[in-house]
Amino acid sequence: FLHKLVLGIETSCDDTAAAVVDETGNVLGEAIHSQTEVHLKTGGIIPPVAQQLHRENIQQIVQEALCASRVSPSELSAIATTIKPGLALSLGVGLSYSLQLVDQLKKPFIPIHHMEAHALTIRLTNNVEFPFLVLLISGGHCLLALVQGVSDFLLLGKSLDIAPGDMFDKVARRLCLRKHPECSTMSGGKAIEHLAKQGNKLHFDLKPPMQHARNCDFSFSGLQNVADKIIKQKEKEEGTETGQILSSAADIAAAVQHTTACHIARRTHRAVLFCQQRGLLPQTNAVLVASGGVASNLYIRKALEIVTSVTQCTLLCPPPRLCTDNGVMIAWNGIERLRAGLGVLHNTEGIRYEPK
Ligand code: KG4
Ligand code: ZN
Repeated sequence: FLHKLVLGIETSCDDTAAAVVDETGNVLGEAIHSQTEVHLKTGGIIPPVAQQLHRENIQQIVQEALCASRVSPSELSAIATTIKPGLALSLGVGLSYSLQLVDQLKKPFIPIHHMEAHALTIRLTNNVEFPFLVLLISGGHCLLALVQGVSDFLLLGKSLDIAPGDMFDKVARRLCLRKHPECSTMSGGKAIEHLAKQGNKLHFDLKPPMQHARNCDFSFSGLQNVADKIIKQKEKEEGTETGQILSSAADIAAAVQHTTACHIARRTHRAVLFCQQRGLLPQTNAVLVASGGVASNLYIRKALEIVTSVTQCTLLCPPPRLCTDNGVMIAWNGIERLRAGLGVLHNTEGIRYEPK
């Protein structure tokens, strides 16, 4: 067979996903099962529940991706699977299933680091050479890294507490945006973005966190606490009970979004300058990749565009379906590793998932 073909399997959190991708980045087949609805009901992910749902769906999802690709399993060059980081119980389902498939089909196995996969996704859709800077901002991730090669990363910054999407989700829940007629079906972050358009961001004076920290780390729990205090205060003033929508909800959303955007943009700006000053990135035309659910926020994107414009860089974002967890990025990471001759295992005897 001329082309390399990789089956990718992802179960690190609450999505069961699989895809078949070829060497040129064609997605031949993909399938995904999201557990979001179930976890929304319990107010968060309960690991054993996530594990059970992965178990119920993995076979079907992998078969769907394979069928859609019209590739026979014998034609696969390798099987790539997320092995870390993530929820141990969730990861275990994907790993056990993959090892079984690897044994059965006698194929090489490529263990995948979930963050590496997120970072390399842009190379499937755009012709981006190393090195480039990546900003990963979602409900579970928050990091800035210089990507110097397929598995060569320089971590420049990370969140010291929670991820920005997590903060948006908590503020949105506190503002009861699920009860808001315009936002009832939106994620927390999306609801904040929507409501912020109707608010005045200057009505509340929030300070971007870590203004004097001489590094590229992030922090969002302070913002969440300040928002919490403002909401409590406003509930008192407006005489609303907890559970009702405040008349100042839009102003609060606008202020939180604005402060988050400032914080993310400033930390990213520092990272770009750091890399440019040390010759790690070129002075002009360097690439900044922004990915993850929070990167789909247009207000935050505008703030990042200011950063790339003053540093003469280009901002690139993968399409939304590739920004969130998916099987395509795992399969593509497999292709990247096959091409680079990195981390392809022909004997998986040593790797066994030990349930806790
Ligand atoms: O990447 P993603 O789908 O999943 C993981 O976190 O793994 O990101 C989801 C997160 C949620 O916290 C959601 O509130 C946030 O991204 N999000 C947004 C927007 N859309 C989704 N945050 C801000 N603005 C948005 N438009
Ligand atoms: Zn992810």
